Amino acid sequence: MECFFDTANIPEIEKSLSMYPCLGVTTNPSILKSEGSVDFFPHLLQIRQLIGNQRSLHVQLIAQDCQGMLAEAAVLHETLGQRVFVKVPVTEQGLRAMRHLKNGGYNVTATAIYGKMQGLLALEAGADYIAPYCNRMQNMDVDPWDVIACLRQLGDEGQYPGRILAASFKNVGQIMAALEHGAHAITVPPAMLRSALGLPAIQRAVDDFTADWEDTFGAGTNITDLLR
Ligand code: G3P
Repeated sequence: MECFFDTANIPEIEKSLSMYPCLGVTTNPSILKSEGSVDFFPHLLQIRQLIGNQRSLHVQLIAQDCQGMLAEAAVLHETLGQRVFVKVPVTEQGLRAMRHLKNGGYNVTATAIYGKMQGLLALEAGADYIAPYCNRMQNMDVDPWDVIACLRQLGDEGQYPGRILAASFKNVGQIMAALEHGAHAITVPPAMLRSALGLPAIQRAVDDFTADWEDTFGAGTNITDLLR
C-alpha cells in the first residue's frame, strides 16, 4: 500500500512515522489553516526535516493562472528541494501549468479531481499522481469508486505513468473501497489509520491473552523473565 499522511500537524506526523507506512506528506491550504497561524515555509521545512529527504512533500499552488502557478512552483522547488510535488488543481490553467511543469522536470500531483474526464485530462497532461476526492464526490452523489475504477482502467490501457492517489476520506471503509477499486495510493490523516485499530474487540483480545498469561505464569511476569 502506498500511503501518504494528509496532515500538516507536526506532532501527529512525528508520532505516526514509526507506526504507519508513509511515503510522504500531502498538504493544502485548508490543512495548513487547521494548524492555526503557522509560518508557511518554516512549517513546511520542519515537515521536510521530520520526514527526511527520501519521502515526498506535496504542496498546493495558490495562483489560479498558469504564469503564477509556474512562478510559485519554482519557489517551492527552490525552497523545499527535489522531493517536492507541486499540487496543481485540474482546471484549464492548471492543465496548462502541468504540461509546462512536467517539461521542466517537476513532480506534479493533480488535485481537486471530482470526475472521470477531469482525471483523464490530468493523466494526459503528464501528472505523476492524480488525486480524486472520494468523500467530496460522495457528498455530491458522484460514485468515487466508479471514477477510480474507470481511471485505473484507462490509465493502465493508455500506459500513462500517472498513479491514482485517492484523497478526501472520512472513514476507513472509504479508504478500503478506494484501494479495492484500483487506487495505487491513498493519502489520509494518520488518525484515520489509528481508528482502524480502535475496535474494542482488539484491545479485549489483548487483555484476555494477558489475563491467561498471568494465570499460567504469574502476574507481572513476562517472557524475558522466564529466561532467568
Ligand atoms: O488531500 C485532499 C484532501 O485533503 C481533501 O480532503 O477532507 O478536505 O475533503 P477533505
